[in-house]
Amino acid sequence: MIMASVCPVNLFFQVFVSFFIISSAAAADAQICSNNTFSPNKVYNSCIDLPYLGAHLHWNYNPSTRKVSIAYRATQISGGWIAWAINPTGTGMVGSQALVAFHNANGSMTVYSTSITSYNPSMQPSDLSFQVSNISAQYSNTDMLTIFAVIGPLEENGTIVNQVWQAGTSVSSNIPQIHPTSPPNLQSMGKLNFLST
Ligand SMILES: *[C@@H]1O[C@H](CO)[C@@H](O)[C@H](O)[C@H]1NC(C)=O
Ligand SMILES: *[C@@H]1O[C@H](CO)[C@@H](O)[C@H](O)[C@H]1NC(C)=O
Ligand SMILES: *[C@@H]1O[C@H](CO)[C@@H](O)[C@H](O)[C@H]1NC(C)=O
Ligand SMILES: *[C@@H]1O[C@H](CO)[C@@H](O)[C@H](O)[C@H]1NC(C)=O
Repeated sequence: MIMASVCPVNLFFQVFVSFFIISSAAAADAQICSNNTFSPNKVYNSCIDLPYLGAHLHWNYNPSTRKVSIAYRATQISGGWIAWAINPTGTGMVGSQALVAFHNANGSMTVYSTSITSYNPSMQPSDLSFQVSNISAQYSNTDMLTIFAVIGPLEENGTIVNQVWQAGTSVSSNIPQIHPTSPPNLQSMGKLNFLST
């Protein structure tokens, strides 16, 4: 009798879990990022919609060089800045190896790498703990800014990383200023697997 009452519950649970897995797979197919396109010479096989700050990450991982070409696309509010980072030593802001960009009032783009060593960093250009090349940025008239870069070689078996992304509202003397501390700005971090699609 006990088994008879437990089994339907188990069955219900399994059906429920299967339904949940199927519906989340369907949701993954409906990612907005898969509709983003870039210039013809920039095609990315993988992308994810990041859960905060209207951001999307696109990438190609090359296993033979262990390099990743990335395109980080996010909303940049007027006068503000955007950044995307890998943190090789932790999960949050400190230790982040970041790429930062902003669209200047005169229409030019500023984009560079910066290593974040404290909670109150001066985000000046600096080298990262891994190689970065081919950095550029592109602004589209819908307030979307994209940072392009090639990072790596990643460490051997280093395809799962902690990513951190951010957006701020002001730039002063060409230096991005402190970002808001509202929940989305404090939750914008997570694991990223470059081998996933
Ligand atoms: C992607 O674009 C297609 C074709 O324009 C459209 O039907 C679809 O709804 C778009 N998907 C998303 C998630 O925006
Ligand atoms: C545009 O503005 C930026 C930031 O003030 C400055 O660094 C850059 O030299 C300016 N470019 C031109 C072409 O005026
Ligand atoms: C980086 O830029 C160089 C010079 O434009 C180009 O030859 C090379 O293919 C680029 N590398 C990648 C991985 O896109
Ligand atoms: C990477 O993973 C392979 C396969 O699991 C393993 O043999 C190798 O030792 C790992 N290398 C490092 C540096 O951890």
